[in-house]
Amino acid sequence: MIVAIDGPAGAGKGTLAKALADRLGLRHLDTGGLYRATALQVLRAGGDPADPATAERAARSLDIALLDSPDLRTAEVGNAASVVAAVPAVRQALLDFQRAFAATPPGAVLDGRDVGTVVLPDAPVKLYIVASAAERARRRHEELLARGEASIYERVRVEIEARDARDAGRAVAPMRKAEDAVEIDTTDLTPDQVLDRALAAIDARS
Ligand code: C5P
Repeated sequence: MIVAIDGPAGAGKGTLAKALADRLGLRHLDTGGLYRATALQVLRAGGDPADPATAERAARSLDIALLDSPDLRTAEVGNAASVVAAVPAVRQALLDFQRAFAATPPGAVLDGRDVGTVVLPDAPVKLYIVASAAERARRRHEELLARGEASIYERVRVEIEARDARDAGRAVAPMRKAEDAVEIDTTDLTPDQVLDRALAAIDARS
């Protein structure tokens, strides 16, 4: 069983992916973490995430231990991640890891931006998770505050919309709904309601 989950920042992909993996006994990979770790490696070395050669080198020599870094989820790293993610050679370098992860028994839930379209186009179950920009910004803002980071709602909203535009507008593997994906709008749903809809979609496919 492989479940591919895509959608924009703050839509609830990560929460759903973890809950589904728990419920179905599958492994979980947050593919955004790979792009975040690449960006963090560049930033820690004092490099410029917008320089394609620097970003590619980081992706090729990625220190997987960075996936557990407390710095991974900061807004700065999230924004830099969407910059390195637009570099085709970075995406190529991270592709094998994602496919190998999915192919390892007993199966996996992967969440990201291009899992159903590029990484695993043959995944039997694809979900596309969306929510309004206002709600997604509210969730990210609360998450940053809960972690003790300084955060201003309006700024989070502007950054989330800039990130959406960069992720959906890039030439390689843009964020988009796969034709065979089931869309779930989480704006007015609780995490449990989202999980129920996802399980219903999985039942319908199997
Ligand atoms: O989901 P998360 O906010 O951790 O993702 C960080 C960034 O990584 C995204 O804004 C996107 O640019 C990039 N990403 C991607 N493809 C994926 C997952 C994430 O380009 N499959």
